[in-house]
Amino acid sequence: MSETVAVRHFLSLLDLEPTELRALIRRASELKRMHRAGTPHAPLRGKVLAMIFAKSSTRTRVSFEAGMAQLGGAAMFLSSGDTQLGRGEPIEDTARVLSRMVDCVMIRTFDHTDIETFAAHSRVPVINGLTDRCHPCQLLADMQTYFEHRGDIAGKTVAWVGDGNNMCHSYINAARQFDFTLRIACPEGYDPDAAIVATAADRCTILRDPRQAVDGVDLVVTDTWISMGQEEEKARREKAFAGYRVDHAMMRLAAPDALFQHCLPAYRGKEVDGELLDAPDSVVWDEAENRMHAQKALLEFLIG
Ligand code: CP
Ligand code: NVA
Repeated sequence: MSETVAVRHFLSLLDLEPTELRALIRRASELKRMHRAGTPHAPLRGKVLAMIFAKSSTRTRVSFEAGMAQLGGAAMFLSSGDTQLGRGEPIEDTARVLSRMVDCVMIRTFDHTDIETFAAHSRVPVINGLTDRCHPCQLLADMQTYFEHRGDIAGKTVAWVGDGNNMCHSYINAARQFDFTLRIACPEGYDPDAAIVATAADRCTILRDPRQAVDGVDLVVTDTWISMGQEEEKARREKAFAGYRVDHAMMRLAAPDALFQHCLPAYRGKEVDGELLDAPDSVVWDEAENRMHAQKALLEFLIG
């Protein structure tokens, strides 16, 4: 058997067609209803998901592990520091070995090219559980949450307020795949990757003033100013992002029925006002729960 059999991976939102992404989100809401009704659904009996984490996680780990259990399969937590990867075994070899034993691999790591290398040598689907470049699983949950609360996001306008980071990059990809307009408000020096912005130049604008960015929008999104791996830049970043905190005053500039989303973990009093998280326009807890439903739909799609 060839080492590089063609399998579908989910390394970025661009790996699925827009129609596939929409079907996946519909399926996620259906799986959520079934889960709430207590309807048994175990199509992944006997299947195993390996999860490699080189960074911390609460939501990603728990949503994948609970999701696999609910679908009848099993999930295995592998901290990269405790495997031979941490002692220098090549990614290529790890991919060849793991993919002969498990049915799917989820990876959270720093360098996006590591996950691409892994996927290129894997016989089984590889899922991006966050890299420094993007966080596509989070976008499945974010889109599902918007659809459930407000219907289709096509033609709507979204404001990203804060760092031009991995989440921002996934919002740029989502603007293309789900057909919405994106306004990004970030301080100079913290822009998203210009090459990623260029792929969505027709629907994506970079602004410096967050108030201008949120004016009349349908969805306001933010994320931490200090992503995992940037801890040493804390002081400089907090200074640069002063004025970019999303609060009630900023939300009042958005459309009257605008929603607020945050992938979490949130830093109250930094990128978001603490009270906003529990306000009626905030859907952050549904968004967190939907990680599990959306990833169950993804697992069914990739290995079901
Ligand atoms: N939003 C998100 O990916 O959370 P974790 O870092 O807790 O997995
Ligand atoms: N941008 C954040 C997202 C955490 C889920 C980070 O990379 O740390």
